[in-house]
Amino acid sequence: MKKDTVYANPLEQIEEFRFDASVADVFENMINRSVPGYPLVLDLIGVLTEKYAVENTNCYDLGCSLGASTLKIRQHLPESCHLVGVDNSRVMVERCRANIDRDHSQATVEILEQRLQDTIIENASIVVINFTLQFIPDDERQAVINSIAEGINKGGALILSEKVRFEDDSLQDAMTELHHAFKKYQGYSDLEVAQKRASLENVLIPNSEQQHIERLTMAGFESAQTFVRCFNFASFLAVR
Ligand SMILES: C[S@@+](CC[C@H](N)C(=O)[O-])C[C@H]1O[C@@H](n2cnc3c(N)ncnc32)[C@H](O)[C@@H]1O
Repeated sequence: MKKDTVYANPLEQIEEFRFDASVADVFENMINRSVPGYPLVLDLIGVLTEKYAVENTNCYDLGCSLGASTLKIRQHLPESCHLVGVDNSRVMVERCRANIDRDHSQATVEILEQRLQDTIIENASIVVINFTLQFIPDDERQAVINSIAEGINKGGALILSEKVRFEDDSLQDAMTELHHAFKKYQGYSDLEVAQKRASLENVLIPNSEQQHIERLTMAGFESAQTFVRCFNFASFLAVR
C-alpha cells in the first residue's frame, strides 16, 4: 500500500480535491488513515450483504473507487447475483477493473465509468454508496436517493456512509478536533491536515445525520437508521 504524501509539502496554491492519478495511487492508504472506522464499515458491508442480498438480483456500488467496497460485496454475494460498480473517475475505474480481475468470486461484475446520477438502478437487493454522496451537489442528492429507492426491491437495503456535520456548533467543533486528532494519530502532520482540509472545503459538503434520515424516509424507505458512527463519520442502513 503506497503511503499518502499528497499534502506533505507546502503547496503554493491549494487546488480543489480531485480523484486523479495522484490520489488513485495512494487512495487505499489515504482513506484508511483519514476515515475513522473505515475497515469496520467494509466488514459490515460484508455482513449486511449476506443478510440482504437475494438470488437473481442486481447489486450496486456507487462511487466504487479502487473497488474495496465492491470486493466486499462480491465476496458475500450469491453466485446468481450481478454486481455493478460505478465511478466517474477514469483512473479509478481502470484500477478498479484490474483489482476486480484478481478476485475469483463467482457473482458476475462490471465496472462502469459514469456519473452515479445517470446510473439506472433496477431489480436491486443491495445498493452501497460508501463516502460518495457527500461529493454530489447538495440539490441533486434527493433525486439520487429517490431513484435508488425506486430500483430496490421490497426488503432490499441501501447502505450509505458519509462524513456528517452537527447542528450544534460546539459538538461540530469537538468532532472536527477529534477527527484531526485521529489523522495526527495516523501520522499526518498539521500541514497535511490543513492543506487537505482546504482542498476539500468546497468539494465535500456534509449533511447532518438528521438530514440523511429525513431524505431516506422521504424517498420511501420503510426504515432508516444509523448503524455506525465514528466521530463525524456515519453509516446508515435503509430498508425498502
Ligand atoms: C471517497 S471515494 C469512495 C470510496 C469507496 N466507495 C470505498 O469504499 O473505498 C469517492 C469516489 O466517488 C467517485 N465519484 C465522485 N463523484 C461521483 C459521481 N458523480 N458519480 C460517480 N462517482 C463519483 C470518485 O471518483 C471517488 O472514486
